[in-house]
Amino acid sequence: AQGDAARGEREFNKCRSCHMIEAPDGTEIFRGGRTGPNLYGIIGQPAGAAEGFRYSPSMVAAGEAGLVWDAENLRDYLADPTAFLRAHLGDPRARSNMAFRLTSGADDVIAYLESVAQ
Ligand code: HEM
Repeated sequence: AQGDAARGEREFNKCRSCHMIEAPDGTEIFRGGRTGPNLYGIIGQPAGAAEGFRYSPSMVAAGEAGLVWDAENLRDYLADPTAFLRAHLGDPRARSNMAFRLTSGADDVIAYLESVAQ
């Protein structure tokens, strides 16, 4: 990845009110809230696929339509989740339940997310 994973880990504090990172064996990698889904292994994973999480209808639709997270689409999503889903689905009424926009440091956060789930 292009980003700096160590910086990204610090930036991830912006996400922790809503997201935790927990490995499949239950190891807690980054303690956080549960308003959003577990982000372990998110890069390379289909959208809307975390076990036991209730996603918005738009996120479910995006996953069913084949959206798989990669560094590029994740950067776009983080900048404006609802705008990303509207563009991706071609549906002006699509909405993400993630009410947060990351305005800088996305490459670092993405490098961190990649580094925790090799
Ligand atoms: C969804 C990343 C901050 C709440 C997601 C997804 C990603 C993500 C990748 C899609 C997950 C999937 O498809 O399984 C991040 C990162 C953040 C951040 C990297 C910080 C830079 C936040 C914050 C909140 C939040 C602060 C709460 C205020 C949610 C919710 C969803 C979600 C509710 C589900 C969206 C839906 O169903 O439409 N987030 N997030 N996130 N996030 Fe975040």
